[in-house]
Amino acid sequence: MNQSERPAPTSAELLLIGGRAGVGKSTVGWEVSARLRTANVPHAVLFDGEVIGAIQFSEETDPEFRHAGIDIFLTAKRHGQGLGTDAVRTLARWLIHERGHHRLTIDPAADNTAAIRSYRKAGFKPVGIMRAYGRDYRTGGWADGLLMDLLADELA
Ligand SMILES: CC(C)(COP(=O)(O)OP(=O)(O)OC[C@H]1O[C@@H](n2cnc3c(N)ncnc32)[C@H](O)[C@@H]1OP(=O)(O)O)[C@@H](O)C(=O)NCCC(=O)NCCS
Repeated sequence: MNQSERPAPTSAELLLIGGRAGVGKSTVGWEVSARLRTANVPHAVLFDGEVIGAIQFSEETDPEFRHAGIDIFLTAKRHGQGLGTDAVRTLARWLIHERGHHRLTIDPAADNTAAIRSYRKAGFKPVGIMRAYGRDYRTGGWADGLLMDLLADELA
């Protein structure tokens, strides 16, 4: 699907799961709630008042290796509309500008073509294959992962 065929994102924000309302509206779509402050906690991705997925970040706090990581999933009916890319881009922007990170990572399964394409659109670049990295629930075995990273000035 190309960009022109997609429905334009309207009011949307990322907020903390738990029933507390998020804050703010953005003219260009997504906004990170002021309540989004906690690493390793899933945050709802809210789109037009509907929870469509979850997103979370992790932080390496050792000053020698400081960086942040992002994980996301959206409900299947919302795939392929640009929303995942936009949510990742929004959280990445927040991690860079509000949390001061110079480097972000994301680690889709190596065969997750849609996720890799989405993260490339946000500016992430492939670094390399991590062998037998994550549990493959289809087979019960281990699946390779693709490490991708993004430096602050590469955010697209
Ligand atoms: C990964 C995910 C967050 C991406 O969000 P999204 O809103 O679907 O992504 P986008 O629509 O912005 O982009 C997906 C791109 O992949 C493309 N794509 C979709 N399926 C594809 C396939 N099988 N092969 C190749 N490209 C594919 C789409 O066409 C789109 O590219 P385009 O914009 O150039 O047309 C979402 O699909 C998702 O939640 N997937 C299930 C959970 C998951 O895999 N999470 C990632 C864990 S790291």
